[in-house]
Amino acid sequence: MTKAASTRITPYGAPDRAVSANDAAALLGSLAPLLHDWLPRQRWFAGKGRAVTGFVPVTVTELRPTHAGDPALLHLLVRVEQGAAGVSASAGDCYQLLLGVREALPPHLASARLGRATQGPLAGLTVYEGLHDPSLAELLLERLRNAGSWGPLRFGRARPIPAGLTGKLLDAEQSNSSLVYGDAVHGNAAHGDAERGDAERGDAYILKILRRVFPGPHPDLELPLALAAEGCDRVPAPVAWFEADDPTGGDETLTLGVLQPYLRGSRDGWQLALAALGADREFTSEARSLGRATAEVHLALASALPTVTLGRRQTGQLAHGMLGRLDTAAQAVPALIPYVPGLRAAFDALAGLDEAARGRPAQRVHGDLHLGQALRTPDGRWSVIDFEGEPAIPLAERRRPQPPVRDVAGMLRSFDYAARSHEPWRADWATRCRAAFCEGYAQASGTDPRSEPELLRAYETDKAVYEVLYEARHRPAWLPVPMAAIRRLAGEHQ
Ligand SMILES: Nc1ncnc2c1ncn2[C@@H]1O[C@H](COP(=O)(O)OP(=O)(O)OP(=O)(O)O)[C@@H](O)[C@H]1O
Ligand SMILES: [Mg+2]
Repeated sequence: MTKAASTRITPYGAPDRAVSANDAAALLGSLAPLLHDWLPRQRWFAGKGRAVTGFVPVTVTELRPTHAGDPALLHLLVRVEQGAAGVSASAGDCYQLLLGVREALPPHLASARLGRATQGPLAGLTVYEGLHDPSLAELLLERLRNAGSWGPLRFGRARPIPAGLTGKLLDAEQSNSSLVYGDAVHGNAAHGDAERGDAERGDAYILKILRRVFPGPHPDLELPLALAAEGCDRVPAPVAWFEADDPTGGDETLTLGVLQPYLRGSRDGWQLALAALGADREFTSEARSLGRATAEVHLALASALPTVTLGRRQTGQLAHGMLGRLDTAAQAVPALIPYVPGLRAAFDALAGLDEAARGRPAQRVHGDLHLGQALRTPDGRWSVIDFEGEPAIPLAERRRPQPPVRDVAGMLRSFDYAARSHEPWRADWATRCRAAFCEGYAQASGTDPRSEPELLRAYETDKAVYEVLYEARHRPAWLPVPMAAIRRLAGEHQ
């Protein structure tokens, strides 16, 4: 069942004319021809390659109705149908859209244009990506500053947010969209503040707008909130967030956006690692402190949120899942086939571990840890970001406790990737970074990830298998990177 619009849809130019809530569908009639063309081209659209067959409004909210020529801001949760006709609409992914509506677009917003609506309540008006419009970005921050409900949307806040900040959409290749808000007087924080050396300027924030949304607690809000409550300062603590009620009428909310402090002048670990490689510099000291930061996050997560002990059966299930993913990948990428026996041995070793009988601790983890998820501020301190986990995995699975070594394996693979993306390939550089990271982790947590080599190797292998499949599908030129790891990991078991 489609939930109808919760606030009135006011046709542009006629602010007094209330339109019935059922006209959410009519509004989609205005937007659908534009969305058909625009949505599949968005970086964050996960359903690429499958034809879009329809749109079903889940909630439609006017964050600002049109008034006296000001642009309108429409907030939409839209289910995107991609199946054959007749397939249940509830099967489609739900996306969050923030659309601006104006009579005509000023030149600086030309690149944000979806098009001019030709039918329905918006006929004759221009629809555009609202987040590009500074005035609409400010409006969204105002809703967060004031907290409270707005139609089906609920805005929550942990701390006061200063007034008068201006927003700018990050121009990053992301699976979501982020806006950076900063002090207009000093220029916006999004504009290369590292180069301008303005680390001392007033507060700045980053608002992450989640694009593909799901009912249930979202780890990108849940985990940073839990870490902040635990006093862990390795993660920018959420300042505000917004959510929607479960459109199916259930108790679960949909997390839509999270505002966090913006770490001015920071660079991510991937950029820093490549810069070090380019300058023929070691990265072991950075890797060691990153290991410590990761361990601190893990310790705080284990203390803030429930932990479990995985017995032999669950460890066997873990290994079974890894074996299944290997089989799937080998069917899709024939280059893997010669290595399958060696790789299977890594997973069999995990299933057969004696320690499995005693139980293995599992806890909430980051779930997608790599060098790009660590930011280093100019004072040399690492923070960890982006706790949404691997977006392709169902939310419930992402929130399951897992051995923390899963994150360690992710970071170790990332050092390998960094070294391999540099010419000439610096395998020794990556080996030293990997060792330093584990040392730092052991110093802070008391547990060296290398003390259980079978577990670490199984997780590294699982990750490398995932990478092979990903690269074969999306970036064939990168395939040699995980294949080199596959040869190493398979060899260790022959
Ligand atoms: N608190 C912060 N301070 C400074 N920059 C940040 C902060 N949080 C995120 N960023 C920047 O924004 C980018 C995108 O953030 P994030 O990784 O959370 O988004 P995402 O949509 O999940 O990205 P991805 O598709 O890479 O997973 C980061 O790579 C980083 O450069
Ligand atoms: Mg992400």
